[in-house]
Order: sequence, then structure tokens, then C-alpha cells
Amino acid sequence: MSQEVEPFHAISLSRIAHGLKAQGRSILHMEFGQPSTGAPAKAIAAAHAVLDREAMGYWESAPLTARIARHYAETYGLEVAPEQVVLTCGASPALVAALASSFKPGEAIAMARPGYVAYRNVVRALGMQAVEIACDASVRFQLTARALAELEPAPAGVIVASPANPTGTIIPPDELAAIAKVCRERGIRIVSDEIYHGLAYEGATRCLAEFEPTALIVNSFSKYFSMAGWRLGWLLAPLAQAPRVRAYAENLFLTAPSLAQHAGLVAMDAREELEGHLAVYRANRERLLAALPAMGLRSIAPPDGAFYIWADIGHLTNDSLAFCERLLRDTGVATAPGIDFDPVEGRRFMRFSFAVSTSEVEDAIARMTPWFAARGG
Ligand SMILES: Cc1ncc(COP(=O)(O)O)c(C=O)c1O
Repeated sequence: MSQEVEPFHAISLSRIAHGLKAQGRSILHMEFGQPSTGAPAKAIAAAHAVLDREAMGYWESAPLTARIARHYAETYGLEVAPEQVVLTCGASPALVAALASSFKPGEAIAMARPGYVAYRNVVRALGMQAVEIACDASVRFQLTARALAELEPAPAGVIVASPANPTGTIIPPDELAAIAKVCRERGIRIVSDEIYHGLAYEGATRCLAEFEPTALIVNSFSKYFSMAGWRLGWLLAPLAQAPRVRAYAENLFLTAPSLAQHAGLVAMDAREELEGHLAVYRANRERLLAALPAMGLRSIAPPDGAFYIWADIGHLTNDSLAFCERLLRDTGVATAPGIDFDPVEGRRFMRFSFAVSTSEVEDAIARMTPWFAARGG
């Protein structure tokens, strides 16, 4: 019998938001973690051209695996062979393939709480045990080497996420090195979700494979490359493990979409447009970090990366789902309730996603300021 998998509450709020929009209400979508921009223009042009020419059969793009291997050399100084790169339909199947190929049902996989909802749900769906490590503001909601060293018994694996969802916080390089060391000593295999790499405002995003060559690395075109609906991502596996990971990925999911692979290859060189998005997120982050404390939301972890702000609303509510729904119905600003990311403390947190335009962020601030003020913010 499979284990229970929880619903995604931000989706139910988004459904309400779309219903309100259909009634003519103006809605600002800050509930989902996806760029409101499309794929880079050059990638779209490449997709148009290839549609007329190719049959779009099952395919793994050798130019793309080679380009991703080069990305590791250029960005992190890591020597990676193209055979180590397994293309997937986004980070989600990459995570499934990483876990299924590395761990047995019943084994324990540690992860930070708060964390991305799918981590615990995928681990459970695969019959493994999700071991959530409570990470509070004192550790910027992130895993530490110390927490992993103290966990008894040692789990079989750990999912590391830096920058993280829902907080955007980055684990500093010395802490990543310490985490790698503890995992080596205790025999804990690392799966590192690096989907928010490329989106950093403070500090550096380092690849976990720099510290631990046996780590499995998950990445995607959904965030920095602004191609969420194209469904393209990858898994980087150590050379010896790559055939096994590939066998899992191919049996479970066959290949990644051919059209997306053509577009993704071009997107990897569309730096100028993509860095433009980053500049917008940076401006949005600054606007929100300035405005939220004035609304009474003082307990926030300034995000180092990604495009989220995780805010403590414990002085206002103990029911983040009802709170976010009220905010949405009253102001048209859709946000995500903390319970999606933290089943224990999430009733007193909410997440803002700022992957929208700066004018939308300014509009959201203008709508939310009187709303929070009316609640004593
Ligand atoms: C931390 C994290 N990992 C993975 C995913 C899944 O992304 P993909 O669209 O690549 O499947 C998301 C999506 O929001 C995410 O936030």
C-alpha cells in the first residue's frame, strides 16, 4: 500500500485566483514558483524552425548533453563527460530517477523542513521514509552539517537544496564542504537539487559535485532558463552510476521532449536575455525587502537566490491557508500558504514568489500595505 501524498495547496489557491479573474478581478500571481516570462526569444525561434524540419521522435540530443557538460566546466570548474548527463522532463522526474536508482524502499531520506513539497511526497511515493529536519530562522531554514551529524540513526540519503524553495537561502561553500564531509563519514548519499542555480543575489551557488563526486545533481530549464512548461531538465550522475540512473530514467520516462531539447540548447547561450530576467528579480527582491517590514512582516529570511520570500505571519494567524485565501479574495494578490512547505510550522508562514514584473510587485505592495495595516501590521 503506497503512503499518503498531500495536496498542493498553492494549486487550490491558484484555482480560486483564476476563478476571480474569470469574474473580471485583477489578479497578481505570486503563488507559483515560475517565471512569468517565456523561453528566450532565440530558443523560440529555434523551436519554430525545427518544427518544420524534424519528425520529433524519441531522442536524446548529443549536442545538449555535451553543452551541459561544458556548462559544468565553465561554471564550476568541474570535468564532466556528456555520458554523465541524463536528460529528463524537468527536475521532477530527475529527482524520481535519482532516488529510485539510489535507494531501496524503506530507507530513510533526510531533508530540510521547510522544503519543497515534492521532496517528502516523492520519497513517500517511492516507499522510502522522509526524515524532516526542522530548520528554523537561526540556520536560515537550511540543513547544516551539525544537524546531519546529530541525526540518529544516519539516513541512507539526504536531499540538499541551495538556493532553496521556499526560502531562497543559499548554503555557504564552507558549510557545503562540511555537509559533504559528514555525509562521507556517515555513508549518506547526497541528492542535490540545483534547480535555482543561476538565480543568486548574495553569495555563490556552488555545485555539490565540487565537494562530493558521488553526489547526484538535479537541474532544470524551468527557472533560470524560464522554460517551465517545456519540461526539460537533467540529472548529473557519477560516471560509474550513470548507466544505472539512465536505465531508471528511460524505463520510467523514456526521453525528454525533442522540441524542448532543441530549444534548450539555444537557451543555454541566451545569456543576455536571461540575465535581464535576473535584473528584474533583483529589483523585485529589493522592493519587497523594503516594503514587507513596513507591513509588519519583520521576520523574513532575505533570500540569497531563487525568487521567493518566506515570511513569518505568526503574529497574524495560525492558519496560513485561510490567511492567503483572505488576502487573495480581498486584494487579488495570490500567494502560497506555508503549509505546502512545512507541515508543522507552516501554519504561521507564507511564501511570496517574485518571478513577475517589477510593476506587478509594486502593484502587489500597494494593495497589500493597507490590507496588512488593517490587521495591525
Ligand atoms: C526546489 C524545486 N525542485 C524541483 C522543482 C520541479 O521543477 P521542474 O519544473 O523542473 O520539474 C521545483 C518547482 O517548483 C522546485 O521548486
